[in-house]
Amino acid sequence: MHDLLPDGGTIRKLWIGESDKYRDHLLRLDAASRRNRFGGGVSDDFIRNYADLTISLEAVVHGFFIDGQIRGVAELRPLGTRPERQAEAAISVEQSWQSHGVGSALLRRTLLAARNRGYRHLHMACLADNRRMQQLARKFDAELLFDFGSVVGEVESSRPNPLSVMQEVMADSHAFATAMLDLQTRLLRA
Ligand SMILES: CC(C)(COP(=O)(O)OP(=O)(O)OC[C@H]1O[C@@H](n2cnc3c(N)ncnc32)[C@H](O)[C@@H]1OP(=O)(O)O)[C@@H](O)C(=O)NCCC(=O)NCCS
Repeated sequence: MHDLLPDGGTIRKLWIGESDKYRDHLLRLDAASRRNRFGGGVSDDFIRNYADLTISLEAVVHGFFIDGQIRGVAELRPLGTRPERQAEAAISVEQSWQSHGVGSALLRRTLLAARNRGYRHLHMACLADNRRMQQLARKFDAELLFDFGSVVGEVESSRPNPLSVMQEVMADSHAFATAMLDLQTRLLRA
């Protein structure tokens, strides 16, 4: 899977111990993006608790990294009890990195992860006036069912197959190699 990302940027799953970076990313969101991300205004304290909690839950969190900083995140977390197999997804991209394809790449990874985990329905809380998120969801209308008339959109992901699982494994191993090279380069520079 090859995503067109801004130069030097990469997408990978967050590792244990990276909740601080996630928290800092969420705190950097401008007021409008924060409101859209959380479906209303939330305090800095709420965000601090939220980031810690998310990393400790059974969530799949992909981050868009550039120069070691997280500038965008997509979360996928199970909803309710099995065998319902429903999940919730949420995306945030910092203002300076919006409209560069990052949201599309993060949503693509999240859909693949949802498919491979057997989630049949993905909920995305989207405020009715969030045009940008609606545009983004429309790009995936072959895979998503999104009800723009309501605050909560419901999307349907297709069943996993060996190719979809392999795509996730390949994306993870490529991202791991890139992260190791990036770390090595930054250690050598220091
Ligand atoms: C919604 C959000 C995730 C989109 O991320 P992004 O990185 O800007 O998205 P992309 O660059 O991949 O653009 C996706 C599509 O949005 C549309 N888009 C991009 N910039 C736009 C703009 N300035 N105005 C309206 N639509 C725009 C386009 O259709 C674009 O697809 P295209 O480039 O193929 O034409 C991002 O704006 C964001 O984090 N917003 C705040 C939080 C939020 O709303 N989260 C969603 C609720 S969970």
